[in-house]
Amino acid sequence: MGRILLKGGQIGSSAGVYDAHVLIEDGKIIDTYNWDEEPEADEVIDCEGKLILPGLIDAHVHLREPGQSHKEDWETGSSAAVAGGVTTVLDMPNNDPPVVTMADLEAKRELVRGRSYCNYGLYIGFNGENLDEINSSDAVAVKFFGCDSTGDMGVRGEAAVKELFGKSNKLIVVHAEDADCIEKNSKTYSNDSSPSVHSKIRSPECAVIAVKKFCEIAERLGARLHVAHVSTEGELAVLNEFQKITCEVSPHHLMLCEDDYEALGNFLRVNPPVRSRNDIFALWKGLKFGEIDIIATDHAPHTIEEKERDYLKTPSGVPELDTLGPILFNSINDEGLTEAEVVKLCCEKPAEIFGLKGKGRIEAGFDADIVVVDMDLERKIEKVNLFTKCGWSPYEGMSLKGWPIMTFVGGELVFKGGKIVGGKAGKECL
Ligand code: DOR
Ligand code: ZN
Repeated sequence: MGRILLKGGQIGSSAGVYDAHVLIEDGKIIDTYNWDEEPEADEVIDCEGKLILPGLIDAHVHLREPGQSHKEDWETGSSAAVAGGVTTVLDMPNNDPPVVTMADLEAKRELVRGRSYCNYGLYIGFNGENLDEINSSDAVAVKFFGCDSTGDMGVRGEAAVKELFGKSNKLIVVHAEDADCIEKNSKTYSNDSSPSVHSKIRSPECAVIAVKKFCEIAERLGARLHVAHVSTEGELAVLNEFQKITCEVSPHHLMLCEDDYEALGNFLRVNPPVRSRNDIFALWKGLKFGEIDIIATDHAPHTIEEKERDYLKTPSGVPELDTLGPILFNSINDEGLTEAEVVKLCCEKPAEIFGLKGKGRIEAGFDADIVVVDMDLERKIEKVNLFTKCGWSPYEGMSLKGWPIMTFVGGELVFKGGKIVGGKAGKECL
């Protein structure tokens, strides 16, 4: 490939934006250079007027293999990632069969190898009795469902939780909604089957109770805990009491609320559910004030046919990978987030929390995972442009300004101008 120079762009880091060229070779960033010193290169790519960021790292996706490749497969899911400016995804274990042993992990690894446009890490799941498998595995982290969600991997009983929190040698990522609270609300609303009942059954209270419980246990037992997809003001208030525990927010909880059931119906059904406008405000504030550590999509594709079913038969989850970059870059244009905040929340912090070496920064020696953004490009989100196999987005019709125009994975240009142009350059992060 030789030396490639990304010439004349502006580089984003958590410290701000600065003018520089970026030189890459053999999958790594050689260095950045002032505009007035141009290093020699075999290929020069003009980036004048463009923003150059470290590739986004999405610590929470469901790419559906093994077992559910009718919803998404590794090629389509990782295409959606690079189209959305994402160069690394961490994939959840609620597959069919679930990934709960080293053998399951190895089988998934074999299945996925050589098929990914983006880099990836693989989670292992907790099933209440597989602590040895978890600790002996080289999974990127362990996922613990505090209640049933899509995939029915919920673990009940405090003894099992204490075992995991007391003995896991891995970061624990928890889906925190309280199973008893959900059960109680299900009875109360058993006669209601309108899509919006989902937000009442899996109420804010259910999330707050669970977050509080798991944070307290984690603190007592010294577990490393990361709370997935916080969605309410109440959870942030609890998390403020636990400085060592990290958390993430997903785009749908920042962008959509209960009012949107009217237009989206069960397509908006997701766990945890969308909340109120007040919660959206609190989450944006949480991003600005550093109460939320990272943004992660929880990309959870289901087919249109599945989403058109009645409330009780619709699976929960929304696709998010194609649209992550545009949503973030649009928010920079709208002055919701700064470039520096995006890099911190979506590149540097995820790399730090999940121990992803060589990722998350445009600096000498780091991996050449890079997204080039046209901050002036304005486009609608349309079905025809999506790469996710499920073929729909909760944001269809939305006009966003700021789109990825090139995505490099390990120094290879894999996405350009709306198309996949490169090979399956993704590697597992180990
Ligand atoms: O809405 C959700 N969908 N929440 C989850 O916890 C799982 C996910 C899925 O796998 O579809
Ligand atoms: Zn998830």
